[in-house]
Amino acid sequence: MIEIQNLRKDYQLGGRSVLACSVRELRIGSGEQVALMGRSGCGKTTLLHVIAGIVRPTGGVVRVAGTDLAPLGESARDRFRGRHIGLVFQTFNLLQPFTALENVLLGAVFTGQADGSHRQRALELLDRVGLADRADHRPSELSIGQQQRVAICRALIHEPELILADEPLGNQDPETGAKVLRMLLDIAGDEGRTVVMVTHDPGSAALMQRTVRLEDLREVAA
Ligand SMILES: Nc1ncnc2c1ncn2[C@@H]1O[C@H](COP(=O)(O)OP(=O)(O)OP(=O)(O)O)[C@@H](O)[C@H]1O
Ligand SMILES: [Mg+2]
Repeated sequence: MIEIQNLRKDYQLGGRSVLACSVRELRIGSGEQVALMGRSGCGKTTLLHVIAGIVRPTGGVVRVAGTDLAPLGESARDRFRGRHIGLVFQTFNLLQPFTALENVLLGAVFTGQADGSHRQRALELLDRVGLADRADHRPSELSIGQQQRVAICRALIHEPELILADEPLGNQDPETGAKVLRMLLDIAGDEGRTVVMVTHDPGSAALMQRTVRLEDLREVAA
């Protein structure tokens, strides 16, 4: 599902080069559930953004879901992301004027695929995360944990092969966080989707099949 070789992402800042992320080799198989760990600033978010096609690598080979991302321009990477990737961020960016159901459906609109069948899937996903009776609530009328579950449904609505999550449980008490993570992993497991999740929490990492420490993958010292 993911094949990375000799990846680098450098930023030019005030005349000097900053190495944000470096990976000599990383392979993640289809359907795997992988925790991505490492100290603050080691490049975890940058790596997720490269895999999602948000950030273009400076060098190396990045093959995701059969697509070589490095040579692609922005609009091709946007199309790639809409087809193949579901994203969950720490701040889950639900849109306030819209209900939970509408926010989930927006996940399909952004990918240009929304149609009648998505409404049914959105309702099923909300039911699966225990929010069947909250579909008409706006984000401000939901608890933080409930908002997070809506964000997870939004990431899953367009049936992406790969789900990328960046500290999605950061704002929660560990018990609630573990519950929400189990929901995500259960749905992903049933549907055969690959999950890569950044976390600082060893308890969350223990729920995944494998943990990758980004520092161990470095090509050169940052
Ligand atoms: N746009 C940018 N320009 C210059 N440097 C950047 C840019 N974005 C990130 N960096 C640098 O790249 C490094 C990696 O950043 P990144 O956000 O990937 O770290 P992280 O592992 O996700 O950290 P955290 O655990 O704190 O979220 C950091 O040292 C950061 O300062
Ligand atoms: Mg980060």
